[in-house]
Amino acid sequence: MPVALPPGVLSLHALPADHHDGPWDHIVTAPGTKQRLLNQALLTLRHGQRLAALAGLPHGLIILAGPPGTGKTTLARGLAQAAARALAPIGATTYAEIDPHAFPSELLGESQRNITRFLTDTVPELASRRPHLIVLIDEVESLAVSRSAASFGSNPVDVHRATDAVLLGIDRLAQACPRLLFVTTTNFPSALDDAFRSRADLVLTLDLPGEETIAAILGHALTELAGLWPGVRDLSGDVTLHRKLAAACAGWDGRRVRKLVLSALAQRREVTDDPNRLTADDLLAAIG
Ligand SMILES: Nc1ncnc2c1ncn2[C@@H]1O[C@H](COP(=O)(O)OP(=O)(O)O)[C@@H](O)[C@H]1O
Ligand SMILES: [Mg+2]
Repeated sequence: MPVALPPGVLSLHALPADHHDGPWDHIVTAPGTKQRLLNQALLTLRHGQRLAALAGLPHGLIILAGPPGTGKTTLARGLAQAAARALAPIGATTYAEIDPHAFPSELLGESQRNITRFLTDTVPELASRRPHLIVLIDEVESLAVSRSAASFGSNPVDVHRATDAVLLGIDRLAQACPRLLFVTTTNFPSALDDAFRSRADLVLTLDLPGEETIAAILGHALTELAGLWPGVRDLSGDVTLHRKLAAACAGWDGRRVRKLVLSALAQRREVTDDPNRLTADDLLAAIG
């Protein structure tokens, strides 16, 4: 029987769980980037209690910023599992994905009430379930709207109040629930409120992938495909081909690069029927 989720919560998971492996390895980043991200998460989740005694206490807030399709959401999901694995010896982790669009309301004062209810009731309740809690707020700019740039036709006073409620809620939670980490993503860092951004313990910007990263993403995508259709194995190991394709895909985001492999499978009917027949020319043709 499906269990009712608290308002604004899209999904709830107990981590680590084997079927959550994948996203973390799946995203190719510059060397050191994932380690830095994981360290920041573990610092809060493992030592938050002690660090709360410091004046510059951690807010337990990470912002992943960057253009669409650069792997922010996938990396955030992977981070939850990677952190939960590292923390497993000292206790399990609850992982919640939040729908930021569930809070804003047309009704005056209602957005603020929704946010306050979420941060003062829902989050502490989730935090009490297991030793650690990670909350993903995707596209957080719809919640922590910049108060200086607020327009959107909404009542500016209401936007102010809603953003104030977010800030107040985060400050309180940092004290009350030190083993709590918010991982947030945004395609529009400039739309984020300055006071929200300054509370982040880490703002990590994911840029569009360079040629080397694109080549690695293609190699990864082809290797996954070869797991399903072994005829693709030669292509998946052809680093020279990956580089050649990457040069032709300069400026693409990671999502588009991954889709290239799918579109190569749809270039010729015989390949669609039997993906083992995929050739380098199909991949080149798919670039268009
Ligand atoms: N750096 C990358 N390495 C590997 N795959 C990537 C990368 N960036 C994006 N992708 C792929 O693109 C898709 C979209 O990623 P997503 O996490 O939704 O991006 P965002 O949240 O930044 O819009 C995912 O399937 C992911 O595998
Ligand atoms: Mg996303």
